[in-house]
Amino acid sequence: MTFNTPSDSANNHGLPSIPFVSLDKFHGVSLDEIYHQAATLRKKDQISEGALSRITQALNDVQELLSEHTTDAFVVRKARLSDIDALQNMVNYWAQQGENLPRSREDIIRNIQSFAVCVKNSQVLGCACLYVYDTGLAEIRSLGVNPMIQRQGQGRAIVEFLLHKAADYEIKKVFVLTRNPDFFARVGFKLTTIEALPEKIRKDCDNCSKQDRCDEVAYEFNL
Ligand SMILES: CC(C)(COP(=O)(O)OP(=O)(O)OC[C@H]1O[C@@H](n2cnc3c(N)ncnc32)[C@H](O)[C@@H]1OP(=O)(O)O)[C@@H](O)C(=O)NCCC(=O)NCCS
Repeated sequence: MTFNTPSDSANNHGLPSIPFVSLDKFHGVSLDEIYHQAATLRKKDQISEGALSRITQALNDVQELLSEHTTDAFVVRKARLSDIDALQNMVNYWAQQGENLPRSREDIIRNIQSFAVCVKNSQVLGCACLYVYDTGLAEIRSLGVNPMIQRQGQGRAIVEFLLHKAADYEIKKVFVLTRNPDFFARVGFKLTTIEALPEKIRKDCDNCSKQDRCDEVAYEFNL
């Protein structure tokens, strides 16, 4: 969370400064709790507005430093329009490597509600989307993680987020076509055949130049 600084900093004079405290006093106390203690002192006029501002700033600095050094501090959430540049870069990077299909910015914007992103320190580290076919089957598409941070759990976290989303929609099967079968096997998908997925064949395969020499394999997850 971010600690909010009270806006009124005018009343900054003539109030007692913060008493010196031993660090032991804060052992096992969360940053949130420290902030609330400081806010309570401010309410009782025992510290000044300026002191509360300095405490708030210091707590924000501590939180930022801690999260910079915590390798697992990433979150997966629904994508937002402010993620568009990052989404476009990620999708097109992996499309150029031949791992995903290219997508236009307009296409990504139109389908923003289907995307999930993995974020750390406000940086998008990975993305994917859940495409729902009119038969009720769904496909994971446009999955990609920043090439500098592979194998740190982000890919699994994004896939699991989309599987939960599919379960919420009561979707019974999620599939993927991939050149990376080992990853999908690790995250619980089972091998199937493209022929078993007629929706996919009708949507993409019929128009694909690699139709007769397809190098992707189909994996499915039954919910
Ligand atoms: C596939 C991809 C999304 C995986 O993301 P990631 O963050 O590196 O993967 P994770 O760290 O979440 O891996 C989850 C598990 O899969 C394993 N794994 C990941 N990539 C693997 C690979 N290429 N081969 C074998 N196992 C792999 C990990 O070791 C991990 O196993 P564990 O849970 O036993 O430790 C990522 O490699 C990527 O962006 N690839 C390029 C684009 C792509 O192929 N997209 C899929 C198109 S369908």
